[in-house]
Amino acid sequence: MKNLLAAAIFVVAGIIVTTISTSSLEIQGHPSVNKCVGECYANYVAANGNIVDQERAKAEAAAAMSPAELGKTAFVSCQACHGASAEGGVGPQLSGRDSAFIVEALNTYKASGTRGAQSALMWGVAGPLSETDIAHIGAYIESL
Ligand code: HEC
Repeated sequence: MKNLLAAAIFVVAGIIVTTISTSSLEIQGHPSVNKCVGECYANYVAANGNIVDQERAKAEAAAAMSPAELGKTAFVSCQACHGASAEGGVGPQLSGRDSAFIVEALNTYKASGTRGAQSALMWGVAGPLSETDIAHIGAYIESL
């Protein structure tokens, strides 16, 4: 009888401890998506690195990109007018041009120079581009 009582107390105590500890880990009123603390978080960091590691990996990936790949990223802002593959649209076709042509044209627009009738459209676009951006874009277009 004494053993039975001890066992019953043990079970009830176990239930109480489990209830308190799990409920305090959850954010009340929300689905339990934020329970990754302690060992769970340690496992996540071991598999993916912490936030600083993740940012560093992203920066290293960008640094390892070739000029043409970087130019492709920069070209996203040109696609609306020059087409997704630089095949032309509002602006002239750029694919098929070599890097020297692109660099020369962009530098002219950057200096608010006139090349064609619609050069003003390119002044605002080329103005903020750095020398490096222009070189990367030239490399990308030449690679098409
Ligand atoms: C708002 C539309 C628009 C956007 C955005 C735009 N362009 Fe242009 N682009 C034009 C037009 C229009 C011309 C023709 C300008 C002229 O008459 O001189 C042009 C001309 C050019 C030329 C000269 C082409 C040639 O055959 O002479 C180059 C190079 C060029 N753009 C590159 C770019 C790059 C790189 C970007 C993105 C960073 C870009 N453009 C974004 C409209 C645009």
